[in-house]
Amino acid sequence: MNTTAQSQADSSRVDIALGDRSYPIMIGSGLLGSTEAFAGLPKASSAVIVSNTTVAPIYAERLTVALGGQFRATHLVTLPDGEEFKTWQNLNLIFDALLANGCDRKTVLFALGGGVVGDMTGFAAASYMRGVPFVQIPTTLLAQVDSSVGGKTGINHPLGKNMIGAFYQPLKVVCDLDTLKTLPSRELSAGLAEVIKYGPIADGNFFDWIEMNAEALLSRDPTALAHAVKRSCEIKAAVVAQDERESGLRAILNFGHTFGHAIEAGLGYGKWLHGEAVGCGMVMAGCLSQRLGLVDAATVHRLKALIQKAGLPVTGPILAQPDNAGRYLELMRLDKKTLGGDIRFVVIDGPQRASLRGAPDALVREVIDACCLRQ
Ligand code: NAD
Ligand code: GLY
Repeated sequence: MNTTAQSQADSSRVDIALGDRSYPIMIGSGLLGSTEAFAGLPKASSAVIVSNTTVAPIYAERLTVALGGQFRATHLVTLPDGEEFKTWQNLNLIFDALLANGCDRKTVLFALGGGVVGDMTGFAAASYMRGVPFVQIPTTLLAQVDSSVGGKTGINHPLGKNMIGAFYQPLKVVCDLDTLKTLPSRELSAGLAEVIKYGPIADGNFFDWIEMNAEALLSRDPTALAHAVKRSCEIKAAVVAQDERESGLRAILNFGHTFGHAIEAGLGYGKWLHGEAVGCGMVMAGCLSQRLGLVDAATVHRLKALIQKAGLPVTGPILAQPDNAGRYLELMRLDKKTLGGDIRFVVIDGPQRASLRGAPDALVREVIDACCLRQ
């Protein structure tokens, strides 16, 4: 792998500065089974690990042992696995377990899994007894570089993605890079979409580095992964510290997501992975930026080539016939960034710079027609 990354891969902590809600993101190997990684948490009699049917059998025992010395009781809640289960009904399974086990308002929740488990556990923590502490232990690349950081929690609604939720920060984030060894390759690629995202919106050098190290990342080179996770967390931490509740700047982290969320909801949750939809969505948002005259064709071509190299789709699916673009527009109007019925897109408007703006429907239609699979 590229040497720039090698020299930066040793550091293992990124801090997220939010006043009295500041917290560390710990990044390294072997953290999941380490009592030290979980030291300094508030005193509580019980811990509840929330995981799913895939992750719990691999990692829950190791975490339970690491937490054993600190909590009198550690309970495990195992959710069904998949984006389609990020629902009210399954959120209730967490509340059922908390109540059945007599968990009080000091109980600490531990989200052990990818972004689905992390978002649901965070939302459960935000609302159980009006708020209990929680720790994020992300086990997918996507969750380590994005979803576990910054306090966005929630669930999907059949009409729109992540529509119900809360901003609620964890006490800490523990990224054990070893967990990425068991991650399916398709999920690794999905995580790379969110890594790539940080290039165009914030750091051109990082984009160059990802281009140079794409093979190393895809082959799970530990040093390359450590650098990708750390740099992504640094960029996200800096954005969130300036705009925790997305009154402005934080929206740039949604580059590709307006198109991407429409793909996820339009196809049915779980058909395309979130990262796949975001990867393709970034190509579409890049094309829109180009049609708005903000970037040149070469920039969009480079972005598309890297997304493709990462193993992600670059052509959008057909969501409806005969008016595919109309269906995309209908779904995108439900996006949380939409104001007064006007869809707002994150566009790239220069090297490592992004902004939020509207676009005429006719132009957006052209982009969708150009970027979607032809029948
Ligand atoms: P996911 O949580 O569905 O995990 C992907 C798959 O990998 C699942 O099948 C899971 O069981 C499995 N898995 C997880 N860790 C594993 C491991 N170490 N080994 C083997 N299998 C493992 O998906 P994701 O990509 O992690 O997260 C996507 C979700 O995150 C979406 O719901 C998205 O909306 C959300 N998200 C939230 C934010 C935020 O800021 N809160 C940001 C980005 C994405
Ligand atoms: N993933 C977008 C955000 O955290 O704001």
